[in-house]
Amino acid sequence: MHASWKGSDVLVIGGGIIGLVTAWRAALGGLRTAVADPDPGGGAAQVAAGMLAAVTELHYGEETLLGLNLASAQRYPGFAAELAEASGQDIGFRACGTLAVALDADDRAHLRELHALQRRCGLESEWLTGRECRRLEPMLAPGVRGGLRVDGDHQVDPRRLAAALLTACERAGVVFHRVSVARLTVAGDRARGAVLSDRTELGADQVVLAAGSHSGRLDGVPAEVLPPVRPVKGQVLRLTVPRPYAPFLTRTVRAVVRGSDVYLVPRANGELVVGATSEELGWDTTVTAGGVYELLRDAHELVPGITELPLTETRAGLRPGSPDNAPLLGPTALPGLHLATGHFRNGVLLTPVTGEVMAAVLATGELPEIARPFSPLRFSPAPSPVRQEQPV
Ligand code: GLY
Repeated sequence: MHASWKGSDVLVIGGGIIGLVTAWRAALGGLRTAVADPDPGGGAAQVAAGMLAAVTELHYGEETLLGLNLASAQRYPGFAAELAEASGQDIGFRACGTLAVALDADDRAHLRELHALQRRCGLESEWLTGRECRRLEPMLAPGVRGGLRVDGDHQVDPRRLAAALLTACERAGVVFHRVSVARLTVAGDRARGAVLSDRTELGADQVVLAAGSHSGRLDGVPAEVLPPVRPVKGQVLRLTVPRPYAPFLTRTVRAVVRGSDVYLVPRANGELVVGATSEELGWDTTVTAGGVYELLRDAHELVPGITELPLTETRAGLRPGSPDNAPLLGPTALPGLHLATGHFRNGVLLTPVTGEVMAAVLATGELPEIARPFSPLRFSPAPSPVRQEQPV
């Protein structure tokens, strides 16, 4: 055995919120758990706005994902309380609701379609006139043409969520290796651990690949098992409502402006998060003048008073996109290797249910019913047909 070999029941590769919640729940379930990440608690959660938008971010063709999103949204109040207890930290969960508004006739038609889809899916959302929208949120532009009031779409602060999960993991005995992973170790046709960039060898009975958008490019993972996950860039702005906080917005406000999503998420501490671009530019995380301009232009159309606020931060992150916009959860075709990745626009929302599902599959080997549609095996190549030898 190598001098620097270290072993555990579970090794989680990636210490973003998905890796951390998996590790925390696995450790609570009695598994000796380690996380490998040079900067645990970092990643896309440092950029994300933290909308829990199961209903307002519903898209055609994503009805299966909706079930998982709703299940996770339902778990959030209990999850936030449990995590606060375990970490001693508040994660900024706010049951504030969301208002999705339309600025012109096209937006209005789009929102009407969304409303019809929401109703077909049995979701709660109420159509409001422009005047009713402004009565709820007086800072909205006078030209708002109507909107959808969704009282069940809340918010959390993803930075606080990441920090609390890190503390909860430490308190639950999770071991952290603050080094990047060089490669997965595969021996005897199963995953056995990983080698770190400092050459430390980590052994584990089960490995969870939870490296966000990087999950699709870890050395050592056999090609047929490598998750089809790609980075989708999102630029996000943070503004600050000066103290004493005048009521600026009381709930998340969002719209589709000229085909792009814009949302404003007001935090209790005066922070106002404005997001987000969606760009297929590979690993680029540059904040561009164009990105900032478009976000401010669209946000200003929605809430003109926004230009009075100090702009305190601009940042870009990478969503882990998958071919069907849904996560990949559970065992792969390589024994010993699980995935918890591909959460795309819903990583923060799906954190509670992901932790629960991953802890269950790690403990029992069975993927819970709720997660079965999200098995990574849905992307495995079909077994090739047996080749018939042709007579010559
Ligand atoms: N769910 C928000 C975003 O991905 O921008």
